Amino acid sequence: METRSIAIDGPSGAGKSTLARMTAQKRGIIYVDTGALYRSVGLYALRRGVGSKDEPGVTALLPEIELEMKYGDAGDLRVLLCGEDVTEEIRIPEASIYASDVSALPAVRAFLLQTQRDMAVRGDVIMDGRDIGTVVLPNAGVKIFLTAQPEIRARRRYDELIAAGRAVTYDDVLRDINYRDKNDSSRAAAPLKAAEDAVVFDTTELDLNESFLRLIELIDEGLSAKGEIRYKDDAAI
Ligand code: DC
Repeated sequence: METRSIAIDGPSGAGKSTLARMTAQKRGIIYVDTGALYRSVGLYALRRGVGSKDEPGVTALLPEIELEMKYGDAGDLRVLLCGEDVTEEIRIPEASIYASDVSALPAVRAFLLQTQRDMAVRGDVIMDGRDIGTVVLPNAGVKIFLTAQPEIRARRRYDELIAAGRAVTYDDVLRDINYRDKNDSSRAAAPLKAAEDAVVFDTTELDLNESFLRLIELIDEGLSAKGEIRYKDDAAI
């Protein structure tokens, strides 16, 4: 059976993963968090003491890296790095910076490209990242570019980290968001940008629930424009 995909791209902290997870749950499709793959590569380099911008060093590590994503008992997405569950550890701030740095390396992007595409052929997916609509799944049924002002994204990420018991300050989080925005948008390899056929969706003024309702509408509009709607839930025909 041919599978169909939803691509969600955008900067750090725009709410991609939360909204993509909610959409996947509502629609009974698979969620693929591609940032988690970059984070895992970053974490691997960090643990091995290889600098995040050391291109030959990071490239040499790639053949050792095995990545897998699976759903845990609670229905949550787990990331396995060489068999070890690193789902929580890849969220630490050092891993965020490392992920952003290693994701600028063409060898890392090439290494993860096939992994991501393989994940999209197993069934209908919603995949989030930075270059899903532009590079990974150029034929996605619908492409959304999710964004919000940096201060709002930093506030949301800060609240999330504090709720998870992390000792961070708002200023650190904003600095991290600004660093990654600049890094992710200015790199030569697959920079963060909206695909030409993406719908740009700014959630600055919306809360999570409002964002979710609007996102579902945008997805349905996009898919029905292509004659691709065939979901199970009530919202779809
Ligand atoms: O979505 P995230 O914050 O977990 O992603 C971590 C880093 O990985 C981010 O700074 C940029 C990079 N990334 C990427 O370059 N391409 C993707 N498809 C996903 C993430």
